[in-house]
Amino acid sequence: MSIEVVEVRPHERHFGVYALKFEDGSERLATRNLTPGKRVYGERLVKWGGAEYREWNPYRSKLAAAIANGIKFVPIQEGTHILYLGAASGTTPSHMSDIVGERGLIYSVEFSPRVFREFMEKLVDQGRRNVVPILGDARFPYQYAHYVKGVDVAYIDVAQPAQAKILADNADYFLKPGGYVMLVIKAMSIDVTAPATETFKQEINTLKERGFEILETVHLEPYDTAHAMVVARKR
Ligand SMILES: C[S@@+](CC[C@H](N)C(=O)[O-])C[C@H]1O[C@@H](n2cnc3c(N)ncnc32)[C@H](O)[C@@H]1O
Repeated sequence: MSIEVVEVRPHERHFGVYALKFEDGSERLATRNLTPGKRVYGERLVKWGGAEYREWNPYRSKLAAAIANGIKFVPIQEGTHILYLGAASGTTPSHMSDIVGERGLIYSVEFSPRVFREFMEKLVDQGRRNVVPILGDARFPYQYAHYVKGVDVAYIDVAQPAQAKILADNADYFLKPGGYVMLVIKAMSIDVTAPATETFKQEINTLKERGFEILETVHLEPYDTAHAMVVARKR
């Protein structure tokens, strides 16, 4: 039998993020479900105060891991337009879709046709109208330049080498002046022989060289080994 939720309250720092409190005193992150009754990855749904919330699992979503680890600033709120590179089957994009609401947009780029089909089934076919699915390769932003309008945030989680470069190339095309980038660094996919901190430094240097001011870096352990999240702003 699952334990009961005894309180749902807004997160003290992040817009559109909630804390679910359980009867045993434990707490979990959640977002308010934009498509009530529908799940994306088997997450728990909680009805509270006339709304429905989706539990946000930090072991499944690196943005949730960064929030659970105390990231201070997430540049996402109601109405934010986001370019999401490496959308996979939509776990993190679905929570962003909850947060930005009907006035926001998540341009979601994924290059694997099989995974993209899952994304379509789980998000688009389920009625998330603020998601724009793009089957494309993030290394070649010109391929989808005609679909994407200026964005407030560019987010990357492609688990491939040269992520900072790919992110900066996309920012050159699509990021509005003063916009933000969020970079998930997976040390192993960049250089398996280098220690994680070395790899993190290299990727951060690439962002600095491309004109970004680094605002924050958060490690994602214990949720993800050798991963970090970097938030930066275009100077
Ligand atoms: C770690 S998963 C992303 C998980 C997702 N961000 C989430 O939190 O829900 C990485 C995804 O990036 C995709 N990917 C890798 N290289 C890519 C590229 N160059 N362009 C687009 N997608 C890419 C992979 O197919 C995979 O689905």
